[in-house]
Formats: sequence, C-alpha cells, structure tokens
Amino acid sequence: MNTAFSGQPVLDPNAFRGDFPILNQEIHRQKPLIYFDNAATTQHPRQVLHAMDQCYQHTYSNVHRGFHWLSEESSRLYEEARVAVQKFINARWPEEVLFTSGTTLAINTVARSWGDQNIKAGDEILLSIMEHHSNIVPWQQLAERTGAVVRFFGITDDGLPDLEDYARLLNEKTKVVGISAVSNTLGTFLPIAEISAKAHEAGAVVVVDAAQHVPHAPTDVIAWGADFLAFSGHKMLGPSGVGILYGRRELLESMPPFLGGGSMIDMVTTEGFTPGELPAKFEAGTPPIVETIGLAAAIRYLDGVGLNRIAQHERTLAAIAHARMSEIEGLTILGPSPEHKCGIVSFVVDGVSAQDLSILVDLQGVAIRVGHHCTMPLHNYLNISASCRASFYLYNTAAEVHRFVDVLQEILPRLR
Ligand code: ALA
Repeated sequence: MNTAFSGQPVLDPNAFRGDFPILNQEIHRQKPLIYFDNAATTQHPRQVLHAMDQCYQHTYSNVHRGFHWLSEESSRLYEEARVAVQKFINARWPEEVLFTSGTTLAINTVARSWGDQNIKAGDEILLSIMEHHSNIVPWQQLAERTGAVVRFFGITDDGLPDLEDYARLLNEKTKVVGISAVSNTLGTFLPIAEISAKAHEAGAVVVVDAAQHVPHAPTDVIAWGADFLAFSGHKMLGPSGVGILYGRRELLESMPPFLGGGSMIDMVTTEGFTPGELPAKFEAGTPPIVETIGLAAAIRYLDGVGLNRIAQHERTLAAIAHARMSEIEGLTILGPSPEHKCGIVSFVVDGVSAQDLSILVDLQGVAIRVGHHCTMPLHNYLNISASCRASFYLYNTAAEVHRFVDVLQEILPRLR
C-alpha cells in the first residue's frame, strides 16, 4: 500500500536528540552509539522519565481501591491516560481502551475471551504470512482447543500483501482475520480498511496487530473498521509492561473476562462471582500504574512531534538506506520499496551469516536486530532462516544511516 505522508514540515531529528540521553554515548572504544533496533523497543525521552518519576515521588498509590488522596490522584492520572489513548487511536469510548501488559497479552485476551466463546470446530482463522508470532500462536492455541483451522495468505514478489490470495481464502467459514497494520520484519503498510471491509462482508471479526503502526503513523480504529486492535507502550517511547487492547464496545461487553482476580468483579461470594463493567472487567489485579502515566507522556510527546512527520521522516531514512544498500553486491533487502513501508529495513547478504554480520556491526557502534524477528513463518516463506533488521525512529538521522551503510561496506569483504 502506498501510504503518502508528504506535505508535512520536515522533521529535524537533531531537534529531539537532546531529549534522549541514552543516545548520547560512545561504546566499543569511542564509537558513537547508533540505535537502529526501534522495532524491538524504543528509547525514552526525558519527558516520559519525568512523568514517571513525578508519579513515584508525588502521586503513587494503587488505583480504584481507596478514597484517600493519593489513590484518587493515581486513579485520575490512570484514567486520563486511558482518554489519551482513546484520542490517539480515535476510539469512540474510553471504555474501549483496556490496559494490558503489552500486545501479546492483548491478543491472547481476544483469542481466549472472544475466541473461546465464538469459535468452534471447522471455523477458519485467516492470518497474513507476515504476522508476528504473537498474532499467530494464540490463534493456533485457540484452534487446538476448538478444532478450528488456521490459514495464511501470502505476499507478492514485491513484499506486499497478496490480496487475491486473501480474497481466495476468505469464505463464510472465516470467523477471524488477524492482520498486522505494519509488518515488523518487512516494514510493509497493509491496507487495513480494505482488508477489514472484505472480512466484514464475510462475517469475520478483524483483529489488528498495530504494534508497529501506532508509534509510526496516525492510527484510526474507526476508519479502519477494526474490531480489536493491540499495541505496546515500549515501541512508542513509553515504558515496557503496558500495552493496549482496543475492542469495539459491543464486542467487549459480550465477552467474558479472561483473567480473574481483584478489580474485575462486581461481586464475589463463596458460590461464584459476577464480573464488573468495562473496562475493569478486563483489568484484573494491580495494573501497570506508573507505566500508563509514562505512556500518556509518550503520547503527548508524539503528538507534539506529529505522527505524519514521523512517518515521512522514517520513509526518507528508509529511502536513503535502500538507495545505498542496493549498491552492495549480494545484499537483498526484504519487502517492498520505501513508498510502501515505514522505517524498517531487513536484509540478507549472500554467503554471509546474519549473526556474524550483526556482531561486527555492533562492534562499530550500530545496534541492529538479527534472527527471525518472531516471524518464523515469514522467514520460511522467503526461504531464509534469519535476517538482519535496521529499524528507525524519529531521533535517527540521515548521517547515522550513511554511517551504517559505510560500516556494512567496510566489514562485508571480511565476512565473504
Ligand atoms: N516484536 C519485537 C520485534 O519485532 C520484539 O523485534
């Protein structure tokens, strides 16, 4: 999908780097650190650290459990964070935003709660071959429990979703379509509104893994027609340990709670329990209190920079990387051309171990990821066992991309 983000004032990453102290250091004998592992996790601006520190120093207490001042303050900030997320993804109601520990728990909640209630033997769950394991394994587990079947649609030679294959596999037995908004390995933007409309025509529910989209481009659950959507705080300048499950209110109201414990109940007797209302029904136990406040600060930061500018900046960096890396003999970039992707550049080099390459790249100060990136089915589909991945964010510079490619050019002759 060609997603245009042009027309925005150009983002100058140097204007933001001072907010990220971790980026300002040298490693491995005075090599400036270049952090290109943003698809795995991102760094934190001072504003996020400050918000969390303020909470620990001044307002920390458990939420929704007391009438004392600290608890009221914590609860207020916690619920303000929910509203911040609601606005950030354009959900209709704050109650449609559930705090989880991350994308993985969010998708597992849908598979367990909605899935166990609605899926039966012979039903089909349709996924893209690009999915992260966290949007595959919970569905495979659901299929094991129920006798449902998991199917995968493929990608084109250009690294785009094969929408003909999708239409061919979608049928009246399809009850779930599970889809990444952006592939964490290929960087491809998927046409979620189109995929979602077709799924709804077939009567399926759409579960969007937006972990790599929400941090990098504007997200609108209503425009997409998403029934469920999951993402993580730590990939969008926020802390780890907090994530979001968005669900359409009617669906969430019809679903049983997944985890049982404190806070999620209306009443408990020795005979049983009645669940509480949304969103408490899905937030058993003490939630990630300070982390949600950090997430709200991250959202304020991202709003201040502008998601369209971030998307445009990342695409500029990806285009530089593509242009320069395509000149390296034997190097293949996985996935589509830059106009169809965000700032993720995964690649393999003929006859070179991806792991060896990433170790030597690290010794020059550049952090990239190596392996299957939790997308083993995609790597099998592409007939490779591992790849290297450089992934960019708002604080990365064109100079860093050039330095990275220079490093590749220096070290590859030694590995061949
Ligand atoms: N899901 C994260 C990644 O793609 C960890 O690297």
